[in-house]
Amino acid sequence: MPTISFVKNHAPIEVESGAILMDALRAAGLPVASSCQGDGVCARCRIQILKGSENLSPINSVEQMLRDRLRIEKGIRISCQTQVLGDITVDTSYW
Ligand code: FES
Repeated sequence: MPTISFVKNHAPIEVESGAILMDALRAAGLPVASSCQGDGVCARCRIQILKGSENLSPINSVEQMLRDRLRIEKGIRISCQTQVLGDITVDTSYW
């Protein structure tokens, strides 16, 4: 099972392979900003990927549209559109 690690304030968590990153974080009690609740509209659910970006699902068309429109930097993923396939380390500014 993939492990999600953090650089502050939370112990690592194990998740099912293929879990949606936003859902997995929320299930572990971590807040994830959102105003569309995962519909792929608001882009507020951005999560910084510090390690293991190769262990995430490829950017889908919804995420690509948001990335293009908002010029989202490399190293940030739209967590409601991203599946966890292997070990990663993540952070946000508000944790
Ligand atoms: S929660 Fe709105 S785009 Fe992810």
